[in-house]
Amino acid sequence: MIYTDDYTYMSELNTPRLTLRKLAMRDAADIYRYSRDAEVARHVLWDAHRSIGESRAYLRYMLRRYRNREPASWGIEYRQTGEIIGTIGFMWIQRDNSAAEVGYSLSRDYWNQGIMTEALRAVLAHGFGSMNLNRIEAQHETGNPASGAVMRKCGMVHEGTLRQRLYNKGKYVDVELYAILRRDYGDRTRI
Ligand SMILES: CC(C)(COP(=O)(O)OP(=O)(O)OC[C@H]1O[C@@H](n2cnc3c(N)ncnc32)[C@H](O)[C@@H]1OP(=O)(O)O)[C@@H](O)C(=O)NCCC(=O)NCCS
Repeated sequence: MIYTDDYTYMSELNTPRLTLRKLAMRDAADIYRYSRDAEVARHVLWDAHRSIGESRAYLRYMLRRYRNREPASWGIEYRQTGEIIGTIGFMWIQRDNSAAEVGYSLSRDYWNQGIMTEALRAVLAHGFGSMNLNRIEAQHETGNPASGAVMRKCGMVHEGTLRQRLYNKGKYVDVELYAILRRDYGDRTRI
């Protein structure tokens, strides 16, 4: 199903330290390096990769989504080294409602340096800019407060707790729902 057909689909986004770009099969070793870490996978809906083959399977899945112009993730390239250190992208896009949800993950070596805040700001600017969205949501497990901090720093507003919303890694977990509206975004001079 085609969700996104404009010419800016997954266009490259640049921030001071990062290039957000489409993933490619050559990124398998970089993806595997951090996706094998159980701490990185703890609060996301995928399991830690057990082999580089699983990272390649993930990349094939993402390349298929690019080909079909479906909601997809950018690779987060740390420009200084050229390494892919994480991903960020849209989980779904609803054209009828001009709404979408973002999700992300980052190598543990790079946590707490403001990297995901920088990446999310770029994706929100793209979402409200080229993609012309009205509402962008994000969710994190209640037990993953660092992710909520990223959302708040980017101007997203906490809308509620979804009790036992997900069954993840053997248990039901509560989820915090955040969103930012075009009008909130427009009100801020710099997010
Ligand atoms: C969550 C994640 C994306 C954060 O990325 P990051 O680049 O480290 O985020 P930033 O450095 O921009 O900001 C992190 C903020 O969380 C805060 N933080 C870190 N650990 C925290 C904790 N245990 N409790 C509360 N806040 C915490 C930091 O202090 C920082 O806030 P500050 O700038 O106000 O001090 C990253 O840890 C990650 O990818 N984790 C694994 C995958 C994942 O959980 N993805 C999100 C699924 S919703």
